Amino acid sequence: MYYGTYLQLDKIIESQYPVSFEPGNEPAHDEMLFIIIHQAYELWFKQILFELNYCETVFKKEPINDNSEDLNLVRHRFKRVIKILELLNQQVNVLDTMTPMDFLAFRNLLTPSSGFQSKQFRLIEAKLGLDINKRHQKDYYKRTNDGGFTQKDYAHINETEDSKNILQLVNTWLERMPFFDANYWGAAQLVDPIHHPFWEAYTTIYIEGLSDREKAKAADFKAVFFEQFSEDMTEEYKATLVTSFSPTAMRAALFIMLYRDFPVFQTSYQILDALIEIDHLMSNWRHKHLIMVRRMIGMRVGTGNTSGAGYLEGALNKHFVYKDLSGLSTYLIERRKLPKLPDSLIQYLGFNL
Ligand code: HEM
Repeated sequence: MYYGTYLQLDKIIESQYPVSFEPGNEPAHDEMLFIIIHQAYELWFKQILFELNYCETVFKKEPINDNSEDLNLVRHRFKRVIKILELLNQQVNVLDTMTPMDFLAFRNLLTPSSGFQSKQFRLIEAKLGLDINKRHQKDYYKRTNDGGFTQKDYAHINETEDSKNILQLVNTWLERMPFFDANYWGAAQLVDPIHHPFWEAYTTIYIEGLSDREKAKAADFKAVFFEQFSEDMTEEYKATLVTSFSPTAMRAALFIMLYRDFPVFQTSYQILDALIEIDHLMSNWRHKHLIMVRRMIGMRVGTGNTSGAGYLEGALNKHFVYKDLSGLSTYLIERRKLPKLPDSLIQYLGFNL
């Protein structure tokens, strides 16, 4: 085995063709950096997709074996995605060494191509669970004309968007968590979730802990976790309380957040926390990219035919996938006030099966 052969370096190192270096054009020094940085991003996107695909495969197992190494590997691989995203955030600083005038020297030669057409970036978003209908300016994504995707890439993205994403798979995984089962709480307690002894106790403690200015959160709590909407809520307000996870999954996620110190919850908690972190790092990247774009092209339209910085700002504000998980903090209570759990459940939660 030879280093260069193994890594196919002939292909990779010979794959930079600055258009400005072509005969008839004025060579623009920084175009090389521009190409290499995009290629480096795409290589890391490939690795992220590889890790997400693995996680997807585990969550697709019916059922997932909680006592196998599967979930621990998911946790580990999500953490790897986090480290890569941290690196990708740093990488913006390297591109920032290119000045707006350096960019202008070759920018027009790129039209109508743009990072917007990164198929892998779209696949990452789709796999994480960004819903096409919740996208900012969703029609931009459906273009196969100038600045949009090729028919082939578009079909690939659609196919991924139509298959189960990680958010949906995690939802199913959370829904089957057995914490509120009758065998821990007594068969007579198999009732409507809002009247389950745990949730009755929790709701009272939560509401008692709200300050006067926060009293309205009591109604939000019932809407988010039990789909019970107050009559005085407008349709518009109700819509803000509909989560991308089902109420059953939201209850399980909140329970995991609350009792995360129990050993069996560690992996589950870290998986949820990793998803929140991935969402934050994607958002950090969008922000860094937006600031860089503003500096580079001001308020000009993008080469990909969007409004440019305006579009990117909308995407930054809207493209959160796991905000319902980070939003769980709204509904936490102080640790010392946590309801005591039945002994049989504690046994289950303590590796003492
Ligand atoms: C000089 C540097 C850059 C400029 C001026 C720039 C500009 C833009 C603009 C204006 C858009 C909006 C779409 C359009 O109309 O073109 C966009 C989107 C995008 N760019 Fe860049 N970009 C730069 C570097 C990069 C790099 C290094 C990457 C890394 C892959 C990248 C990835 C993306 C992605 C993924 C989008 C879509 C974002 C979304 O939909 O949320 N860009 N870029």
